[in-house]
Amino acid sequence: MPPDFRIIGVARREKTDASWRGELRSALDQFSRTKPVDDQVWQEFSQHISYCEGDMDAAAAYEALKKQLASGSEPLRRNLLFYLATSPSQFGHVVQQVHRAGLLHKDDAKGWQRVVIEKPFGHDLESARQLNRELTQYLREQQVFRIDHYLGKETVQNILMFRFANAVFERLWNRDSIDHFQITVSEKLGVGQRGGYYEEAGALRDMVQNHMLQVLSLVTMEPPVSLEAESIRDEKVKLLKSIRPLGPEDAARQVVRGQYFAGRVDGEPRPGYRQEPKVKPDSNVETYVALKLFIDNWRWSGVPFFLRTGKNLPLSTSEVRVQFRPTPHVLFAAQCGEKLDPNALTLRLQPNEGISLRFNGKVPGASTEVRPVRMHFSYDTEFGAYTPEAYERLLLEAMAGDATLFIRRDEVETAWHIVDGVRKVWAGKPLSNREFYAAGTWGPVAADDLLAQTGHGWREPLVVK
Ligand code: BG6
Repeated sequence: MPPDFRIIGVARREKTDASWRGELRSALDQFSRTKPVDDQVWQEFSQHISYCEGDMDAAAAYEALKKQLASGSEPLRRNLLFYLATSPSQFGHVVQQVHRAGLLHKDDAKGWQRVVIEKPFGHDLESARQLNRELTQYLREQQVFRIDHYLGKETVQNILMFRFANAVFERLWNRDSIDHFQITVSEKLGVGQRGGYYEEAGALRDMVQNHMLQVLSLVTMEPPVSLEAESIRDEKVKLLKSIRPLGPEDAARQVVRGQYFAGRVDGEPRPGYRQEPKVKPDSNVETYVALKLFIDNWRWSGVPFFLRTGKNLPLSTSEVRVQFRPTPHVLFAAQCGEKLDPNALTLRLQPNEGISLRFNGKVPGASTEVRPVRMHFSYDTEFGAYTPEAYERLLLEAMAGDATLFIRRDEVETAWHIVDGVRKVWAGKPLSNREFYAAGTWGPVAADDLLAQTGHGWREPLVVK
């Protein structure tokens, strides 16, 4: 952090600066990635933190904030980053009020002001558009920082570097060499205490519209003309626009939803989704989604992209698996059977961050026996255990005014457009038996059928210790 900064927390509860600092300190002791917390660093840092009590629905809160901001040096008073970790329904209102209080200006003449908006950004295309309209009454697009914490992950940022700084892979990254992709974001956690939110969201809105489409676009976009924020975001939008739209029939054929019933994860009993707090006992909200997408552009024509995400699955892992086309098998067919395992590259986004390459090797000895072997790259082994939390990176970038890792207006709208079609097909339709899965399993059978249609199968995510 620069020497001159301050952090003001705004909320309804009654707190003093000291009591809020105390809360933050105990949270740090519990969650900080470097422990124990260095007392001296904390003492210095915490002097910059203060609290402002107020109800965000009332104009008085913004006056109180204004008063608190009135002291301090000129940059401290004028250069403001508003981080809205509020209920999504309040985003528009809070920005309007901050503007009315004279704290937010569209032009840069009075220092800079930026607003970080948490997800979910709208709940469909129409509401996202509406929110964009509300925000841009008071802000230029360059002042809006829409968060998707996946973009703050080191491994996700490495995707472009990996693709475009390595000739070996860059040349193979197209329909001629790649058979298909599997992108998995699985979680061992159930919905737990977030039932209220989840009933409104579901896995499609919670994970696919944002995190998964972001990862997909980084893995498949064309090289940007530069590393400038707008160049990268232009390419991502272009890619999202080339995803083949899912009409009602495509959505029925290419998208599978699922919901967990009671089961066990790591031997621990888990309740079914319908038994979770704040969930309707006959809820049809999906806790699992699998999709087959096609990208209708020159590079990816005909290549299927299989995406899946779910709660209460056997592993917590995020990975991109690239399966290459096999070589002709004529040469080894007699000794090794009809099929050689095709090469596969796995980008392990989390945990055990790294990259693995699978290729075929000859088993030593007089026979011609083949066996798939693996090469692993691990971030920890190579660079040490330096893996900042996504939010550390993102908030720092927002302070620096670099929007590369944030979602642009047209990007968020295009992503909603893709998932909206699917929602419409599900609306009002109860889940069928083939769409339920036991907690602790890899999702409903319907998801296996989705890949089986084309002779594919889900690969278990790679576990590298
Ligand atoms: C959040 C979702 O955006 O991402 C959660 O709302 C999900 O439901 C989380 O658990 C996953 O993030 P990560 O970083 O743990 O993969």
